[in-house]
Amino acid sequence: MALSLAEKAVLRPGERVLVNAAAGSLGVWLVQLAHAAGAHVIGAARGEWKLRHVREMGADVAVDYSEPEWAERVREATAGAGVDVVFDGAGGQLGRAALGVTADGGRFFSYGAASGAVADLDAHEVERRRVVLRGVEDEIAPGDWRLADQALSDLATGRIRAVIGQALPLERAADAHAAMAARDVIGKTLLLP
Ligand SMILES: NC(=O)c1ccc[n+]([C@@H]2O[C@H](COP(=O)([O-])OP(=O)(O)OC[C@H]3O[C@@H](n4cnc5c(N)ncnc54)[C@H](OP(=O)(O)O)[C@@H]3O)[C@@H](O)[C@H]2O)c1
Repeated sequence: MALSLAEKAVLRPGERVLVNAAAGSLGVWLVQLAHAAGAHVIGAARGEWKLRHVREMGADVAVDYSEPEWAERVREATAGAGVDVVFDGAGGQLGRAALGVTADGGRFFSYGAASGAVADLDAHEVERRRVVLRGVEDEIAPGDWRLADQALSDLATGRIRAVIGQALPLERAADAHAAMAARDVIGKTLLLP
């Protein structure tokens, strides 16, 4: 999924990229992929331990989006220009604020609703500011293994680091879900047979 989003974004070196929910399972991939593409990466997440991790994954700047002025911090990190690309897996108000710091003509990928709803975007603003808005409706076709092969190759070569935040036996699935709902996990959760 992250590879598909990054491919559709056609990231160019030097572009300013904001990844919301940057410490989540998709976020840690998107931060690393954007960094590998030579982008200036701003990762947004909640809490210092996650921000530290987001920086370790390759973000140039990490911003805590639980703080009221967070969007201003993002704008400052682009010297006032705004970001060229947004990957938003958080949704809701966090997604809406991300649109506010998207440069006119930027690309906005709204792929998630971790905060409870997809990004609450003003369609008129999107059109007026010529922002290219993409969702997940046209993601990976069934039977298309090309990106899965790419993901395995990226992991094997070390271009991308796998981040497994928790691995629990299947019978502890409820605990795993509780930790995710409490936002206590970085990267993937694995349930083991
Ligand atoms: N994984 C996929 O292949 C895939 C495919 C399509 C769509 N999606 C959607 O994309 C979104 C992110 O997926 P993911 O796999 O990266 O999820 P995830 O690993 O569970 O990460 C979700 C992130 O959202 C953030 N978040 C913000 N507000 C939250 C809230 N109110 N409650 C819980 N978490 C909150 C959390 O980080 P902070 O605590 O730092 O905010 C957390 O790291 C989800 O909506 C998912 O349904 C995922």
